[in-house]
Amino acid sequence: MFVVLSLVLASSSSPYLAWASDEASYFNVTDYGAIGDGRTENSQAFLKVWNVACKASVKSPTIYVPRNKTFLVNPIIFHGPCTALTINFLILGTIVAPDTPKSWDAKNASEWLAVMNTNGLTVDGFGVIDGQGKAWWDQSCKYHPQLKNCTTLAPTAWKFIKCNNSSVRNMRFINSAQTHILITGCDGFVIQNVEIASPGNSPNTDGIHIQASHHLNITHSNITNGDDCISIGDHTSDLSISNIQCTLGHGISIGSLGRGGSLVQVENINVTDCIFNQTSNGARIKTWQVGTGYLKHVAFERLTFNNVKNPIIIDQNYCNVSGACPELKTGVQISNVSYRHAMGTSATEIAINFNCSKSVPCHAIAIESVKLTSAIAGKRVTANCSNAYGKEHEIVPGPCLLHETQSKTP
Ligand SMILES: *[C@@H]1O[C@H](CO)[C@@H](O)[C@H](O)[C@H]1NC(C)=O
Ligand SMILES: *[C@@H]1O[C@H](CO)[C@@H](O)[C@H](O)[C@H]1NC(C)=O
Ligand SMILES: *[C@@H]1O[C@H](CO)[C@@H](O)[C@H](O)[C@H]1NC(C)=O
Ligand SMILES: *[C@@H]1O[C@H](CO)[C@@H](O)[C@H](O)[C@H]1NC(C)=O
Ligand SMILES: *[C@@H]1O[C@H](CO)[C@@H](O)[C@H](O)[C@H]1NC(C)=O
Ligand SMILES: *[C@@H]1O[C@H](CO)[C@@H](O)[C@H](O)[C@H]1NC(C)=O
Ligand SMILES: *[C@@H]1O[C@H](CO)[C@@H](O)[C@H](O)[C@H]1NC(C)=O
Ligand SMILES: *[C@@H]1O[C@H](CO)[C@@H](O)[C@H](O)[C@H]1NC(C)=O
Ligand SMILES: *[C@@H]1O[C@H](CO)[C@@H](O)[C@H](O)[C@H]1NC(C)=O
Ligand SMILES: *[C@@H]1O[C@H](CO)[C@@H](O)[C@H](O)[C@H]1NC(C)=O
Ligand SMILES: *[C@@H]1O[C@H](CO)[C@@H](O)[C@H](O)[C@H]1NC(C)=O
Ligand SMILES: *[C@@H]1O[C@H](CO)[C@@H](O)[C@H](O)[C@H]1NC(C)=O
Repeated sequence: MFVVLSLVLASSSSPYLAWASDEASYFNVTDYGAIGDGRTENSQAFLKVWNVACKASVKSPTIYVPRNKTFLVNPIIFHGPCTALTINFLILGTIVAPDTPKSWDAKNASEWLAVMNTNGLTVDGFGVIDGQGKAWWDQSCKYHPQLKNCTTLAPTAWKFIKCNNSSVRNMRFINSAQTHILITGCDGFVIQNVEIASPGNSPNTDGIHIQASHHLNITHSNITNGDDCISIGDHTSDLSISNIQCTLGHGISIGSLGRGGSLVQVENINVTDCIFNQTSNGARIKTWQVGTGYLKHVAFERLTFNNVKNPIIIDQNYCNVSGACPELKTGVQISNVSYRHAMGTSATEIAINFNCSKSVPCHAIAIESVKLTSAIAGKRVTANCSNAYGKEHEIVPGPCLLHETQSKTP
């Protein structure tokens, strides 16, 4: 990988004559004082190497984290913008978080590693980002509400904040205290060939959370965890999710959108060729009644469900406390959502569940070639739809949708 990258740099350096030689493009963390013994704390060395690489007069500096070494790193934020056109992390070794929440005492508990304000950031390698989340899980309010000082906020393993045209490839993220990868305020982002793994009963350990971001491809990755496999928040558009395997956890979720009455603008989302293995949801959309704005142009295609509790679900009346949200006249408008070529088994009786709003119904829902059966031999499954308008073709169980002509407000 080192040789390949050097060749790429050498062959493309001609337009940048002002920059120094390519040999200066590698910044080895061990040359800046990092000790990869798994015990020595390295955040100052990592900050030092980032600052040097970020300000270096080379076209594409690479921060090199060598293999066969484990670097313990306290919470840190890498700040851009950088001088270079692009900036790279080549991570072949392991980066581990402190194993005790005490290490966050004077820090913001919302993150462990974060990069802010960069263009052309790449994170690549076969390295491991290990959040060592167990101590956080053991004091989470979700599973240990009886603890006096239980915590609801735990660190995201790696946040990408305002990182344009960036990517994460070929990495493993394990045992984050909370969300593994969070992307916010980014325009242009690729996640490819990444593995995310944490226990199915670890609290709030979302795989990838995306919000306020545009033009993203999340592909060829496997995610096993205890919360949403991938979750999509407000102000996200032009997102393609493909060839993802979600195991355990809560499946792929658009939402919850509109919490606290926010204005939702989410559109152009494709979820294709994904496998859901024993997840609690498959293709899920959830919006709060207090929300406004829209969710539109969403396509779910070629999905496989294996023993999934809610394979296909829209909940437009989402409430964090069951039954505690009164019926309102408002809601996030959901339209042009399609489900094509989806098959597999449901762990519960209701395989398709469209719980749309009475005041702001779901429109232009399209279902084609969907076949779901029960994961339990001899049981049947049903489709449960309310206030959902659209067209369906070859749907089992079904039919379910109302025709647009039956609608008062098409
Ligand atoms: C980085 O440093 C490590 C340890 O000192 C060394 O084994 C490795 O060869 C170095 N790699 C590069 C690309 O400089
Ligand atoms: C890394 O460890 C593996 C397995 O222990 C070993 O085969 C390999 O030679 C090591 N590589 C380096 C660069 O030390
Ligand atoms: C912690 O960081 C989050 C987002 O990165 C921010 O919203 C929040 O205000 C920060 N909290 C403190 C106490 O700085
Ligand atoms: C990223 O792109 C946005 C929108 O195009 C722009 O406003 C922002 O300045 C860019 N960030 C950097 C670090 O260049
Ligand atoms: C929470 O309280 C327990 C028992 O008093 C203590 O052992 C633990 O360190 C506390 N945790 C935090 C994060 O304060
Ligand atoms: C990302 O890269 C593309 C292609 O080089 C470019 O057109 C686009 O403006 C870049 N986006 C941002 C936000 O910089
Ligand atoms: C995502 O993939 C599509 C299709 O391959 C491509 O056109 C687009 O540029 C990609 N987006 C990014 C941000 O790389
Ligand atoms: C995902 O799992 C499949 C086998 O189910 C494997 O072939 C593939 O390499 C895995 N991908 C990653 C990124 O771990
Ligand atoms: C989604 O799929 C449609 C139809 O194939 C395509 O036109 C559109 O560009 C795709 N959008 C994204 C964000 O990948
Ligand atoms: C599904 O997950 C179970 C563990 O929960 C695992 O044993 C099995 O291999 C997985 N199947 C696929 C197809 O990934
Ligand atoms: C519905 O969304 C798809 C993308 O999923 C898009 O290609 C199509 O143009 C949209 N239809 C309408 C009528 O906007
Ligand atoms: C439920 O959500 C509301 C509105 O966001 C919030 O005020 C309330 O604290 C939440 N309750 C619980 C138990 O999370």
